[in-house]
Amino acid sequence: MAGLLENQVAVITGAGRGIGAAAAKLFAEHGASVVVSDRDAEPAEAVVAEIKDAGGQATSVTGDVTDAAFAEKLIKAAVDTYGKLHILVNNAGYTWDGVIHKMTDQQWQAMLDIHCTAAFRMIRAASPYMRDVAKADKNAGKEPEPRCIVNISSTSGTHGNAGQINYSTAKMGVIGMTKTVAKEWGQFGIRCNAVVFGYIETRLTRPKEEGGKIAVGGQEIALGVPSDMLGFIPMVTALKRPGKPEEAAAGVLLMAAPIASYITGHVLEVTGGFGV
Ligand SMILES: NC(=O)c1ccc[n+]([C@@H]2O[C@H](COP(=O)([O-])OP(=O)(O)OC[C@H]3O[C@@H](n4cnc5c(N)ncnc54)[C@H](O)[C@@H]3O)[C@@H](O)[C@H]2O)c1
Repeated sequence: MAGLLENQVAVITGAGRGIGAAAAKLFAEHGASVVVSDRDAEPAEAVVAEIKDAGGQATSVTGDVTDAAFAEKLIKAAVDTYGKLHILVNNAGYTWDGVIHKMTDQQWQAMLDIHCTAAFRMIRAASPYMRDVAKADKNAGKEPEPRCIVNISSTSGTHGNAGQINYSTAKMGVIGMTKTVAKEWGQFGIRCNAVVFGYIETRLTRPKEEGGKIAVGGQEIALGVPSDMLGFIPMVTALKRPGKPEEAAAGVLLMAAPIASYITGHVLEVTGGFGV
C-alpha cells in the first residue's frame, strides 16, 4: 500500500528522532511533503536527507515548541514552502519523572508546557491555514480538502503511571484538547484524533540506568524507564513485546490518512494490547 497522503502537506514536531522521525519517513513514503521539525537541527536534517534520498519531499525547521513564538514561525515556514497545510502532528515531547512528594513546580510545569501549551499553540497557529481556509471553502460551496490534527498521548495519560503525575496529567490533557478541536472544527471537515502509545522503543524508553539525558533550560533531565519496569511491561502486553517506532508511526498514519475521513475525536491505542 502506498500513496495514502498524495498531495498533502504535513508538519510533524519532534521529528528528528524516534516516533516522529519514523512518522516523517512513512508520511513521505506515502506521498506527503513533510516539514520535519525538532529542537535539534542535526537529527532533523538527517531525516530530511533520508527522505530526499528515497525520492520524497521534506524540509526541516529547527526550534523549541515551548518557545511562545515558535508555533507561528513553524506553520508559516510550512505554508511558505509548500503553499498549504493539511496535517499537523503534535509529537514533540519528553518525560521528567518523579514521585509526587518530591516533584518540583518546575518539573510539573515543564510537562504541561511541552505536551499541552505547545500543542495548543501549534493548533492555534495552524487555524488560519486549516480552519479559516476550510470555512471559506465551505461558504463557497466547495468540497473541503482533507485536513486533520493528530496529537500524541500515552497510556500514562489514559491509565496514570506511578512517578509521572506531571506527564500523566499533561497527556490526559492532550485527549481533552483533541476532543475539543474535533467538536469545534468538525463543522469545517477538520478531524482531530489522539494516538496513545504504550512501550515503544525510543530514547525515551531506554533503561534509565544507561543515564540518557535531555538538556532543558540549562538543566540535564534524566530520560528512560527503570529496567525492572521495562521487563514487566511486555508481561502485561498482549503481543508480549515493545513496539518499534515504525509500528507507532503506522498508527499516526492511520489517523492522518484521508481513508479515516469519518474518524474524529478518537483515541487510538497503539500499545500491542497493553493492559487489555
Ligand atoms: N516511546 C514511548 O514508549 C512513548 C510512549 C507514549 C508516548 N510517547 C510520546 O511520543 C512522542 C515522541 O516520543 P519518542 O518516544 O519518539 O521520543 P524521542 O526522544 O525519541 O523523540 C522526541 C523528539 O522530540 C524532540 N523534542 C523534545 N523536546 C522538544 C522541544 N521542546 N521542541 C521541539 N522538539 C522537542 C526531541 O529532540 C526528539 O527528537 C512524545 O510526545 C512522547 O511523550 C512515547
